[in-house]
Amino acid sequence: MNIIETANYEEMSRKAADYLVKLVSAKKDAVLGLATGSTPHGLYSEMVEDHKMNGTSYEQIRTVNLDEYIGLPSTDPNSYHTFMRKRLFDWIDIKSENTHIPNGQAGSLEKECLRYEQMIENLGGIDLQVLGIGHNGHIGFNEPGTSFNSSTHVVELAESTKKANSRFFASLDEVPTQAITMGIKTIMKSKEILLLVSGSSKAETLQKLIHGPFTEDFPASILQRHPNVTIIADQDALSLLR
Ligand code: F6R
Repeated sequence: MNIIETANYEEMSRKAADYLVKLVSAKKDAVLGLATGSTPHGLYSEMVEDHKMNGTSYEQIRTVNLDEYIGLPSTDPNSYHTFMRKRLFDWIDIKSENTHIPNGQAGSLEKECLRYEQMIENLGGIDLQVLGIGHNGHIGFNEPGTSFNSSTHVVELAESTKKANSRFFASLDEVPTQAITMGIKTIMKSKEILLLVSGSSKAETLQKLIHGPFTEDFPASILQRHPNVTIIADQDALSLLR
């Protein structure tokens, strides 16, 4: 694993944006795997800023998101569809038909999972997958105990994940209980992975990811076996690794 240490969240976001912009400039039709959550806010702001200032074009770029809640309309303020539009897609020249997010309102969720997995294959696979990490080691919405062999599937959200995500909702009861997520195997097929980690609350998680046991009880430990992972983390997140 290649680890890049930054002074703080802002520098982490800038370095991550530089990383993506470099790829987008080199491969105009790259397939980017994107994440939501708080961690990539700064990354997306930096990408928007770069698009404005330097004209980096996303005209032929394709994107696939990790996950979406089940049961929220795509227009709901808390859906990941809305998140991606508001944070990134509305501000750059990407074509909406080239952006892909699981449909959490599909009539058959089982078919939607198969469709999503096949769609990624049809795009030629993911060139670079951006990841954040949950305190319990989840990546995407793959909670502890998820098979390392999983493809896109429906998950029950862990109580801790619902609590962590309730900050965006009016109350804990409003947080959806299920989501569709790319599986661990889907994520591992990405040619390259860029993991962003910020803050002291993630320090133990990051230490476990790098030095802990390889186990399905800590989904992110799978990244120890991926041939091309870059971690951009701030000093606080890396504080237990010195
Ligand atoms: C988001 C996702 C999640 C988050 C993780 C960390 O698409 O798949 O795995 O990356 O929950 O969330 P934050 O960044 O809010 O700490």
